Amino acid sequence: MLRVGIVGLGYMGRMHYRCWSNVAGAEVTAACERNPKVLADAGKPVVGNVAGAADRVDLDRLKVFEDYEALLASGSVDALSITLPTFLHADATVKALEAGVHVLCEKPMALDVASCDRMVEAARRSGKVLQIGHCIRFWPEYVVARELIRSGEHGAVVAASFRRFSAMPSWGPDSWFADETRSGGQPLDLHIHDSDYIHHLFGMPEEVSSVADPGQGYIATQYRYPGGPAVVAESTWRMMPSFAFEMSFVIVLEKATILYDLTRTPAFRVLPAQGEPFTPSLPSGDGYSREIEHFARAVAGEPVEPIITPEQARETIRLVLAEKQSAREGRPVRLS
Ligand SMILES: NC(=O)c1ccc[n+]([C@@H]2O[C@H](COP(=O)([O-])OP(=O)(O)OC[C@H]3O[C@@H](n4cnc5c(N)ncnc54)[C@H](O)[C@@H]3O)[C@@H](O)[C@H]2O)c1
Repeated sequence: MLRVGIVGLGYMGRMHYRCWSNVAGAEVTAACERNPKVLADAGKPVVGNVAGAADRVDLDRLKVFEDYEALLASGSVDALSITLPTFLHADATVKALEAGVHVLCEKPMALDVASCDRMVEAARRSGKVLQIGHCIRFWPEYVVARELIRSGEHGAVVAASFRRFSAMPSWGPDSWFADETRSGGQPLDLHIHDSDYIHHLFGMPEEVSSVADPGQGYIATQYRYPGGPAVVAESTWRMMPSFAFEMSFVIVLEKATILYDLTRTPAFRVLPAQGEPFTPSLPSGDGYSREIEHFARAVAGEPVEPIITPEQARETIRLVLAEKQSAREGRPVRLS
């Protein structure tokens, strides 16, 4: 039995709890949370940006620690879901790996590339699994869109556009999302989902050119792939609180268009050059449960496709930081 601990019982901690509860051969045995109010509310429903993603937590079944070092010293877990605010990811991950514990750490990997390097190095030294929670690489529609592209059946990608719109996250206990020194700001927190998927689909661009408002609550980026597709992405967490969450993409191939829009029915459509539009069948589960199953299989020593390596997650941080720099300085930033 894989003994799992969850560090940070906020929105994503509860989401990991829900997903782990459905993984055969694993059991959530411990949690670490230092906010008494969060612990007191653990049995209540939670609100986040994806409806139904998170779950209430039954603390009676867990060994609860307020101190992270005490959790590590207890030897009571084999693997951790680290769902702490972003500025705590690097130190918490390195300590866990050094204690011989496998780590699934939420995205973004860390606030800067040097911290990512420390995490990559700690994973190498420990021989333990380190996976970063880039759930979009596991999200059914995004997985199938990538498979359709890679099959070559519909020709090359000509252009691709990605959008992600949300209100400011309001569920954090002390507004840490609004503090760029702790969250990295909107580009590193929200926009990174599409930057990482673009990286996953097309590799690292040669150059990025971005525009943003002064606080970077909105950003739009053009990713330059010489001789390749025209790729853009825009995101914001400046929508009004009454706005629900939206994510979407349009991928234009030579012989088909692939469309996804969470708010439409059907949300996912392929329009081939000839024949009727259709909705491909999708793998079961959501991106969260699928990424956690993938991590559990890697920890169990099963051969898994390297869908998200620590090195790739580090490159995604480099990509988003280049986008932030481009917007700040009003000029393209080269990556290669
Ligand atoms: N993959 C996704 O779709 C997705 C969605 C939302 C958030 N996230 C990421 O997940 C991470 C957590 O976000 P969240 O929305 O769950 O935030 P949150 O504020 O809801 O939860 C964080 C929890 O960590 C606790 N905490 C803070 N410091 C601690 C410490 N030292 N020891 C123990 N507990 C501590 C807080 O009290 C809080 O309960 C962030 O990095 C965020 O970017 C990912």
